[in-house]
Amino acid sequence: MLTGKKILLIISGGIAAYKSLALIRLLKKSGADVRCILTNGGSQFVTPLSVAALSEEHVFTDLWSLKDESEMGHIRLSREADLILIAPASANLMAQMAHGLAEDLASTTLLASNRPIMICPAMNPMMWAHKATQDNLQTLIKRDVTIIGPADGDMACGEFGTGRMSEPEDILSAVKNYFESNKPLAGKHAIVTSGPTFEPLDPVRFIGNRSSGKQGHAIATALIDMGASVTYITGPTALPAPLGAKTVHVETAKEMLSVTQDALPADICVCAAAVSDWRSDAIATQKLKKTKSEDSLTLTLVKNPDILHTLSTHKNRPTLVIGFAAETQNLDDNAKAKLSSKQCDWIIGNNVGENNVFGSDQNKITLFKRDNQKEFEIADKTTIARDIADEIIHYFKIQK
Ligand code: C5P
Repeated sequence: MLTGKKILLIISGGIAAYKSLALIRLLKKSGADVRCILTNGGSQFVTPLSVAALSEEHVFTDLWSLKDESEMGHIRLSREADLILIAPASANLMAQMAHGLAEDLASTTLLASNRPIMICPAMNPMMWAHKATQDNLQTLIKRDVTIIGPADGDMACGEFGTGRMSEPEDILSAVKNYFESNKPLAGKHAIVTSGPTFEPLDPVRFIGNRSSGKQGHAIATALIDMGASVTYITGPTALPAPLGAKTVHVETAKEMLSVTQDALPADICVCAAAVSDWRSDAIATQKLKKTKSEDSLTLTLVKNPDILHTLSTHKNRPTLVIGFAAETQNLDDNAKAKLSSKQCDWIIGNNVGENNVFGSDQNKITLFKRDNQKEFEIADKTTIARDIADEIIHYFKIQK
């Protein structure tokens, strides 16, 4: 969950520093890269060697270390992190931060940084309650520093009260939540339809198509990765449910429409399903039999509801409605015509004739918007899904 996230952990002076060793392990186990600064006070409680061993990184302790400065430098140290986490944050370090002091490596790095900061205060309850600390706290809150804890309980000094550093597991959850809620599509609900629909003719036969559902699946996954909550509505495919999606399995277009409408409201809807345009007007209750006298069978098909059009014109219309145009010829004209007939915002056109797209892992798309179009390089469906997710993120940034 924290894979690839760079966390700069500052360990300042306090008995709670021992808990930071467990915190390093938890962060590393969740996939984060952890680099540590140990203050002078911090190193009275834990050794640079234990911190280095657990973080598997060099530990930074000294502002004036020629070697450290030439290799990394406190400016780079302050800018490379996705998050600066201070645990424990002593009353002294909080005061230094609030007043913009740059006295040692930790405070100088913090002053030189433009990165988000999360602090886990730990101190004696009287120190925590002191007006000076509380004023400093308010200053830090105003500067958007995230505060975790402190918790109530018995203190190492024998007193009872508020001042214990939050438990490493709770700090880990706060860090995870921080990255979740900072994802670009956090708070957005996306509906993704995917796969084919199967329209029954009788109890054993159906009209279907060759859609593998791979592109819709990849789009659902990309949107989840960007923080959206995704309702994934899929016809029959061989794919597993995307991790983290609310998945609903359907067979027919009518079922897909009903489930899609039930999933509203939504901010985003991506209709990637290859919905059958037709269904049998009367589903035989028994298996249709061959008769000796007839060489042909006539089926009467009726039009299926158009899910994309229904959503585009719905009173609860999602803010951004995206459809697909899988065409074997005249992609440009057909995609543009679809954009206006379906009344959606974007059409993702792909030439299914040329690139053998159905079932393949590759796709080549052109994104048609109302006023422009953009062609993407041929790529695997996961990359295409990320490209589409990036376009969606960009759309909502501009909307804001
Ligand atoms: O009309 P056509 O099937 O070519 O349009 C393709 C687009 O419309 C796709 O986004 C598909 O998911 C959607 N569609 C739909 N309901 C239908 C037919 C197509 O949502 N009945």
